[in-house]
Amino acid sequence: MIKVITYGTFDLLHQGHVNILKRAKALGDYLYVGVTTENYDVSRGKINVRQSLMERIEGVKATGIADEVFPEEYVGQKIDDIKRNNIDVFVIGSDWEGKFDYLREYCKVIYLPRTEGVSSSMLRSDDTIVIGTVGSDPSMEKLIAVSRDIDGIEMGRAVFDEEYRVKNSLFDTVYGSYDELLKDVDAVYVAARPQKRYDYVKKALLCGKHVICNSPVVLSSAQCRELFSIAEKNKLQLFDSIKTAYLLSFSRLILIVKGGAIGDVKSIDVTCSSLEYIDWIKDTEYFNSFTDWGAIALLPVLKILGVEPKSIRFAALDSESIANAFTKISMEYDSAFATINMGLGVKSEGDLRISGTKGYIYVPAPWWKSEYFEIRYEDSSLNKPHYYKSDNEGLSMELVHFVRCVRENENNFYVDKKITTAVSSIMEMMTRDL
Ligand code: CTP
Repeated sequence: MIKVITYGTFDLLHQGHVNILKRAKALGDYLYVGVTTENYDVSRGKINVRQSLMERIEGVKATGIADEVFPEEYVGQKIDDIKRNNIDVFVIGSDWEGKFDYLREYCKVIYLPRTEGVSSSMLRSDDTIVIGTVGSDPSMEKLIAVSRDIDGIEMGRAVFDEEYRVKNSLFDTVYGSYDELLKDVDAVYVAARPQKRYDYVKKALLCGKHVICNSPVVLSSAQCRELFSIAEKNKLQLFDSIKTAYLLSFSRLILIVKGGAIGDVKSIDVTCSSLEYIDWIKDTEYFNSFTDWGAIALLPVLKILGVEPKSIRFAALDSESIANAFTKISMEYDSAFATINMGLGVKSEGDLRISGTKGYIYVPAPWWKSEYFEIRYEDSSLNKPHYYKSDNEGLSMELVHFVRCVRENENNFYVDKKITTAVSSIMEMMTRDL
């Protein structure tokens, strides 16, 4: 019996997939098909797959051509699969010409010509979501550059609300007014200063547009509740763009802590600091270390200890001379403490420590974009490093997730409404107390 194997993502199954499966099967008697998992796809830079692993596996099975369908989860698995199943022929499309020659050591390798004129990327691009940008925050440059590599998203339209500080070449169309932009888009990315965000978000939602907004979305809890209620009534997404939340390593860290790996959490110590963008923000009221860093710094605390601390205290240095502010927050929960240090125009070790009754987790600086963390115990031989690759500091995943939530009308589980609302009410308390 001649055994044949092939691999692919098989997203939105199309004729090209069916053709290669048929031709692969025709080369032998028994066909194995490996379908890539989401994590494996992310690690090789393919991040915007539309269907889940189960849906894609079911799609391949439904063709009735494959005899066995299984997930492909890690680099090097092909060799394992080929050896374990005594495979005779490895088949793949000609877009991979030469890439799998190393498998010739184990079996015959055949590259088959691709079917012309169809691909999963093309199908994903058929219903492109247009996201216009409003504001002039330098952070928009990164997000827009990242969007270029994600099919199904178009982010080339913008309106600037201040002196131009973002690279013009990034945009295809620059509009004269926000109203004009809103007419031409499905969604808006609000990259404006904190105190302008409420008006932009509200207007977009009232015009029936989905919103993705830099954090903090607003500086008051009443405004936050109002915006979410408009969004919900109109079945629109209001997405809080705290990019750390979309980092694979950060979401794994949260699961590991909740799974009890370090026992009961007793203390969280967070530091965030930067010297970046000082020129842009120094003349602005309400733009300080807390409005700049607060949402990110609060994220691990609110996710792990919850959104209802028993008490919260603030202290700030230089809160009048905005650019150099340094803010400290002390939070007390029923049986845990959190301490947050935030500096803008001050530099410090930006690490994160989560201490528990069995051990602690250490995330090195800059923790908010780290792909690495360590679980540490008193017996250091038990320490466990964790590494999870993310593309572009979580930005790609954020955009992909936004578009998925828009299409499927799903809730954003990376940053849920409770977190955004808690951040806005803590912002409000801080502005009142300082
Ligand atoms: N394939 C093919 N003809 C096509 C598209 C895909 O023969 N028109 C083959 C690929 O060469 C590969 C298998 O089908 O051997 C699975 O490919 P996959 O990457 O899942 O599909 P694509 O449509 O190429 O996906 P994308 O557009 O995301 O790259």
